[in-house]
Amino acid sequence: MDVGDHAAESGHVPVMLDRVLTLLAPAVQITGRAPVYLDGTLGMGGHAEAMLRAHPGLRLIGLDRDTTALERSARRLAPFGDRVTLVHAVYDELPSVLDRLGVPAVDAALFDLGVSSPQLDEAGRGFAYSYDAPLDMRMDRTQSLTAAEVVNGYPPAELARILREYGEERFAQRIASAIAREREHTPLDSTRRLADLVRTSIPAATRRTGGNPAKRTFQALRIEVNGELDTWRRALPAALAALPVGGRIVVLSYHSLEDRITKQVLAAQVADTTPPDLPVPLPGHQPRFRLLTRGAELPTDGETATNPRAGSVRLRAAERVREAT
Ligand SMILES: C[S@@+](CC[C@H](N)C(=O)[O-])C[C@H]1O[C@@H](n2cnc3c(N)ncnc32)[C@H](O)[C@@H]1O
Repeated sequence: MDVGDHAAESGHVPVMLDRVLTLLAPAVQITGRAPVYLDGTLGMGGHAEAMLRAHPGLRLIGLDRDTTALERSARRLAPFGDRVTLVHAVYDELPSVLDRLGVPAVDAALFDLGVSSPQLDEAGRGFAYSYDAPLDMRMDRTQSLTAAEVVNGYPPAELARILREYGEERFAQRIASAIAREREHTPLDSTRRLADLVRTSIPAATRRTGGNPAKRTFQALRIEVNGELDTWRRALPAALAALPVGGRIVVLSYHSLEDRITKQVLAAQVADTTPPDLPVPLPGHQPRFRLLTRGAELPTDGETATNPRAGSVRLRAAERVREAT
């Protein structure tokens, strides 16, 4: 039985699991001390459990901003005892988390971005347009900003910007205007009302193509409520800074905006910044990382057929080859 089968047995198959394990393995096969694996998006603990099983000396530091996810994965990972440290944190708090734990470096890191299947499937959390629920969409229910506050409180121009930038929604202006008109009468308080409003505010011909018309609006609101892009823009450099030479990182992204950030941040690290007019590379300017993937890797057809969540995933990975100067 391979490690992937254990995860499948518990009823939840982590995305691109075997590829993640293969990419991270060389970074944690070290001697002399317990290697440290950072799971920046612990979720159900599927990838984390497989890593702990595959590497008996491994220590896990698992972060999640969702306390329900942490409670569930704490139960799942209990058999690994004190090899597991779980922290309620947004991943851009990584430097202070490592500081508090007295962990100067992590050997391997995984970020499986976005929302988890349980968050999407739990109707009451308001992430899904397919269930009627309060407009919430907070991954961390201890934070105050909800989707209802965004929808009912933001100026229409700001709403339109969010829908355009984070949802890549070409009818952003029409939808924002429809929201502004509607909320003058009664605040928009449910996923169903918002999804219906989006559907009726876009041209009839478009409603019949390209899946549920509310999909892009819901994605945009979720990104805004959880500050997803800004936190990722801060977290990725922090995670790279925590890797020693030989340390590896794998990132799984599910929409083009977060994948673009990943690609750009990694590209800056693998570039040789020696001025082009110099004949030889300057030592302090040589690449600090090398890419382990050519472009973004996609899941196999077999995986997308059995795990719909894997459909949009893009995997990128890198290894530190030089200390930062
Ligand atoms: C796709 S799931 C991870 C699934 C996990 N790899 C597994 O195998 O079960 C993403 C998780 O990351 C968490 N998350 C998303 N953004 C976060 C952030 N900025 N900081 C901390 N956790 C975050 C979510 O709450 C969710 O539980």
